Amino acid sequence: MLLGIDVATTGAKALLIDETGVVIASAQADYPLSMPQPLWSEQSPADWWTRVVACVRQALTRGNVAPAAVRAVGLTGQMHGLVLLDAAGKVLRPAILWNDQRTAAECAWITEKVGRQRLLALTGNPALPGFTAPKLLWVRRHEPAIYARIAHVLLPKDYVRYRLTGGMATDLAGGSGTLWLDVPGRRWSAEVLSALEVPADWLPPVYEGSQVTGTVSPAAAGGIGLLPGTPVVAGAGDQAAQAVGVGAVRPGVLALTLGTSGVVFAPTDEPVIEPQGRLHTFCHAVPGRWHLMGVMLSAGGSLRWYRDTVAPGVAFDDLLAPVVDVPAGSENLLFLPYLTGERTPHPDPLARGAFVGLTMRHAQAHLTRAVLEGVAFGLRDSVELLRTAGADTLMQVRISGGGARSPQWQQIIADVLQTELVTVSTIEGAAYGAALLAGIGAGFWPDADAACAAVVQPTTRVSPQAGVAECYHALYNHYRRLYPALKPTFVSLADAA
Ligand code: XUL
Repeated sequence: MLLGIDVATTGAKALLIDETGVVIASAQADYPLSMPQPLWSEQSPADWWTRVVACVRQALTRGNVAPAAVRAVGLTGQMHGLVLLDAAGKVLRPAILWNDQRTAAECAWITEKVGRQRLLALTGNPALPGFTAPKLLWVRRHEPAIYARIAHVLLPKDYVRYRLTGGMATDLAGGSGTLWLDVPGRRWSAEVLSALEVPADWLPPVYEGSQVTGTVSPAAAGGIGLLPGTPVVAGAGDQAAQAVGVGAVRPGVLALTLGTSGVVFAPTDEPVIEPQGRLHTFCHAVPGRWHLMGVMLSAGGSLRWYRDTVAPGVAFDDLLAPVVDVPAGSENLLFLPYLTGERTPHPDPLARGAFVGLTMRHAQAHLTRAVLEGVAFGLRDSVELLRTAGADTLMQVRISGGGARSPQWQQIIADVLQTELVTVSTIEGAAYGAALLAGIGAGFWPDADAACAAVVQPTTRVSPQAGVAECYHALYNHYRRLYPALKPTFVSLADAA
């Protein structure tokens, strides 16, 4: 039996699978998110741990699994978050999360200090407000008393690892989202750390995803219901673990994840860096592989906002059913999905959403369809960047996540991307990938290629429909012109706020 633990943004999840990849049991437990000021997003690390303990216990009970049957544990979770500990391992302040946008000034300072091109070459990425390094600099500037007490800096899932094993460690995929990692070299970047004046010994050692980083400690074992000595592998940041879970581990198999965010994830054999840094370049959870990634901040999030605002209480199935009666292109109605700012292809916390082209002819179903199409156009932005960056993207696109359950949305995305979409048998998300990494660490499979070949099967295929490609192509070109046209308005709206 293998245990995957996901420390996600909305809650923790524990998943037990057997050695053939069959799901035995799972459990989830939510925790709150606090937004004490505009742009801020924080969580309590103590909440992560109590909920992880609760849902591991619950999954073991539900599956009737004895502690001794669990052969290894894999961790995954939200990336980029900043957890600060003092020398005694005590949490110094609430964790600052990936979707916190307070660090524009720190990003500008990092870019100036290291140099935009040098930063891209070293870390594979530009300084973005979601990443970890600018968050630490924010604490240095705004909370010097806390900064003075820092002895350790961890990512969210690695705080759970610390509570579980007593040891500090992280994985290369997660480390890639900090802006402190030499992504091509797969180690911390001494050059970046020294330029930013961050002590290297604050960071934990980095491991490949399936490497064992420690074992469940006697102190944690009783409470969580596992045996002391159970191996805990490095695991991976949520996107790399999700990709492992759907079998996107080698070039040519692309993972498209439609959750709150929308992610397009392309494995590569080399660290490929998009010259303008519009895609993320991170280590994959698989040794010797990297990935390019486009992240839309509000994909499923746009649809949820739309439903909650325009059709509160209506089930998604009922809301989406009428869109098949609206022609492709929603009669020239466009939706811009930047409701929480954007990352790819416009890294801009000030970007905002819009409906453009409304007329009296448009009914609710047109608006609904326009939201689905606007998100699909945003995904196409990432796919176009992947194509020009040279990733071999379109051998197969594997779609997963809550939004992928809608047949209407699947069809629109296949039509807008002009590519076949494949769903797979493994639908448990990042926790499943973490469990597979644990299985590789425990010797169940020799590597990720073998694990994925053994357990991930294609289930359905959605092909592009005939006759809509031209309409979508034309509308996509209008869509692409919206952001540059509206950007000055976004800036003046933010100034006026
Ligand atoms: C990846 C990213 C999100 C977070 C939260 O870059 O920001 O996937 O990890 O899920």
